[in-house]
Amino acid sequence: MEQLDRRETRFRSLIEHASDLIAAINTEGLIRFQSPSVERALGYLPGELLGRNVFEFIHPEDLPQVRLAFRGAVSEPYATVSVEYRFRHSKGSWRLLQSTGRALPADGDERLMVLNSRDVTEQKGLEAQLRQAQKMEAVGQLAGGVAHDFNNLLSVICGHSELLEMSLPPDEQSRESVAEIAWAAERAALLTRQLLAFSHQQVLEPQVLDLNTVVAAAEKMLRRIIGEGIRLITSLQPNLSRVRIDPGQLDQVLLNLAINARDAMPRGGCLSFGTCNIELPSVYIEAHPEVRPGPCVLLTVTDTGCGMSPEVQARIFEPFFTTKAVGQGTGLGLSVVQGIVEQSGGHVEVDSFPGVGTTFKLYLPAVEEALTTASQDVPAERPRGSGERVLLAEDEESVRLTTSFLLRRLGYRVLEASSGEEALRLAEASREKIELLITDVVMPGINGCQLADSLRSRDPGLKVLFQSGYTAEAVLHHGIMETESTFLRKPFTLAALDKKVRELLDQGSG
Ligand SMILES: Nc1ncnc2c1ncn2[C@@H]1O[C@H](COP(=O)(O)OP(=O)(O)OP(=O)(O)O)[C@@H](O)[C@H]1O
Ligand SMILES: [Mg+2]
Repeated sequence: MEQLDRRETRFRSLIEHASDLIAAINTEGLIRFQSPSVERALGYLPGELLGRNVFEFIHPEDLPQVRLAFRGAVSEPYATVSVEYRFRHSKGSWRLLQSTGRALPADGDERLMVLNSRDVTEQKGLEAQLRQAQKMEAVGQLAGGVAHDFNNLLSVICGHSELLEMSLPPDEQSRESVAEIAWAAERAALLTRQLLAFSHQQVLEPQVLDLNTVVAAAEKMLRRIIGEGIRLITSLQPNLSRVRIDPGQLDQVLLNLAINARDAMPRGGCLSFGTCNIELPSVYIEAHPEVRPGPCVLLTVTDTGCGMSPEVQARIFEPFFTTKAVGQGTGLGLSVVQGIVEQSGGHVEVDSFPGVGTTFKLYLPAVEEALTTASQDVPAERPRGSGERVLLAEDEESVRLTTSFLLRRLGYRVLEASSGEEALRLAEASREKIELLITDVVMPGINGCQLADSLRSRDPGLKVLFQSGYTAEAVLHHGIMETESTFLRKPFTLAALDKKVRELLDQGSG
């Protein structure tokens, strides 16, 4: 007898200390036993549940499948059934439980089923997050792959439309068509950049700049985007502090916000861009631990459109969240905006009222440094090269031809290679000194980085200009940003090519 007692105590203690939830219910679902772990997991005292019906606590949507499993178990003693369902916590929230149950044969007056349950809410949440992250990575890889080819095509379109424009007399009518082509290619390039920014595969070229200048320069593009029915107002504070951000990305931010505003005002309205210097109040910084204290530049983008409900507002920065019809929106716009601003050390906020309108507030940290000098888009009037020898390695023929055409036009002498291997051979055979290597980063066989390393082992002073439509991580690991080399984003304009080449060649040579 004593031995029996001891054994019973031991089993009881096993059950009482198990982290799983162990319960016994009868064939109607009434709870006859509940292990103490229920208090930690679901907030109920074990005694509180005795005599209650287990089905009362189950989420109505999950009831049919639970009942089905229950009937299965009851009809077949000793068979194990498993089921997953939501169970109400004593505080009202839902916990996801995974249960296995088996019915015991009748013993005395009542048949009982033993239920063994485990709370898998967090685990399932993590699994969902992982799946989402994997999906994002796949999208990113896809975007990177497409963007690579796409940027090559766009390089050709941009390059040739520029060449064409230069060769046409000023009053020639077809100039307008050429401008349209260039504009369309520019839009396409932006779209590609959107995908790349989203998948974090973009090379950043942060510059110190004045937001007022950028907003003023973007005005023409923005007007085009929003159309005639919407008024565009800018109110830019003079003596604005400078910020550090990639100008291409900043354009993308403005563009995304403008398109959203346009979509929110189908019957017209007003879109305003404002800038001002601001010091964030300390209460604000306390409430937002992610924000760096210090002086900021605030850019506001306000529309008088449809506004958003609090539910929509809570989700707008999620990638792929959109309220627009299929084909009208991908739901990437604002997640890209947020990503860009945060990568630049800033943050984004939104105020919106249904029927009144929306304001996006972009805070960017103010910096002290001098402006990055950039007279970027002034096309080169006359050749700026003086016959310097340039080795060009690019596997994509159309891009190679266009680039070498542009380089010759700028006054350089060009050796063309369709692969890293060929470039090495040409360099070997060349009797003249090669001043500059321009190379694609991603090429089959010897890639751009290996080519540069190998040529530099012979001529350590060789200047290198890498060009690519996107960056694989390898690119950055190769230290592309070191001195004596720089990076040109595809597709590029004649002016950008001119500027980069000149900068490199003039570096260190006085
Ligand atoms: N200015 C705005 N006014 C009202 N709603 C907005 C505004 N900006 C964004 N939204 C809401 O936020 C959602 C997400 O915007 P987001 O720019 O990320 O994606 P999208 O515009 O739907 O698609 P995409 O930008 O990829 O074409 C929009 O679908 C819209 O419901
Ligand atoms: Mg959008």
